[in-house]
Amino acid sequence: MTSLKQPFLSVDALHKAFVLHGQGGMTLEVMRDLSLTLSPGECLVLAGPSGIGKSTLLKMLHGSYRVTAGRLTLHFEDGDLSLEALPAHAWHTLRRDVIGYVSQFLRVVPRVPAVEVVMEPLLARGVDEAEARLRAEAMLARLNLPERLWNLSPGTFSGGEQQRVNIARGFIAEHPLLLLDEPTASLDAANREVVVGLIEEAKARGAALLGIFHDEDVRERVADRLLPLTPHMGANVVTAQPATEEMRR
Ligand SMILES: Nc1ncnc2c1ncn2[C@@H]1O[C@H](COP(=O)(O)OP(=O)(O)O)[C@@H](O)[C@H]1O
Ligand SMILES: [Mg+2]
Repeated sequence: MTSLKQPFLSVDALHKAFVLHGQGGMTLEVMRDLSLTLSPGECLVLAGPSGIGKSTLLKMLHGSYRVTAGRLTLHFEDGDLSLEALPAHAWHTLRRDVIGYVSQFLRVVPRVPAVEVVMEPLLARGVDEAEARLRAEAMLARLNLPERLWNLSPGTFSGGEQQRVNIARGFIAEHPLLLLDEPTASLDAANREVVVGLIEEAKARGAALLGIFHDEDVRERVADRLLPLTPHMGANVVTAQPATEEMRR
């Protein structure tokens, strides 16, 4: 991996509209003219009411939603990489090596045990199986997932247990860019604390984080800046704002 630049990610005049094929091809505009930058070691928190487009932004950055217009760019020391028109095979490599994502809910694959769900991003990078297993177990232990669950499929786990498997999988490979969609939503206080620790460690090793956190306490502790998304669709209404004094503490 080549080293990262300041900023590492830039989003320029991003526009997103969904075409609702099931409803006569109606177009739903979700985002217009969103711009932001994100640097290594920084955590930018997306704020704003439900339905405003926070998860949609993360999904565009993870390649699961197409960009309607605008630019998404990663800046490496040896050049820029534009994400808007990247072919599928390039997304595969990028997700393996650069962009990690903790989705709001774990996507359960039947019969795959929790520990293997967590190991998978390491195996994809060629880490040997014994080492990957040890690291996955350490991560699950840190997130207080009972050892008796490690070799069971998460399909029958509680929401909070599934989310901890999801978090372990998202953090284990130490991606340089991490997208976090409400990772602490279904966790108790002790495990929220573990996640705050994982985020602080990721920042300390120079990862750039873009997250959504409804829990005010978590948000205040991890955010370097807040980006409130607003419902207006006019030009330049969705823009970055500096953190409040309170956020900087
Ligand atoms: N795949 C999709 N097809 C159509 N509309 C979508 C799709 N995904 C999200 N939306 C719409 O985009 C808007 C923003 O959704 P979302 O990004 O999930 O909001 P948030 O995460 O801020 O709560 C909502 O109106 C939602 O219904
Ligand atoms: Mg959301």
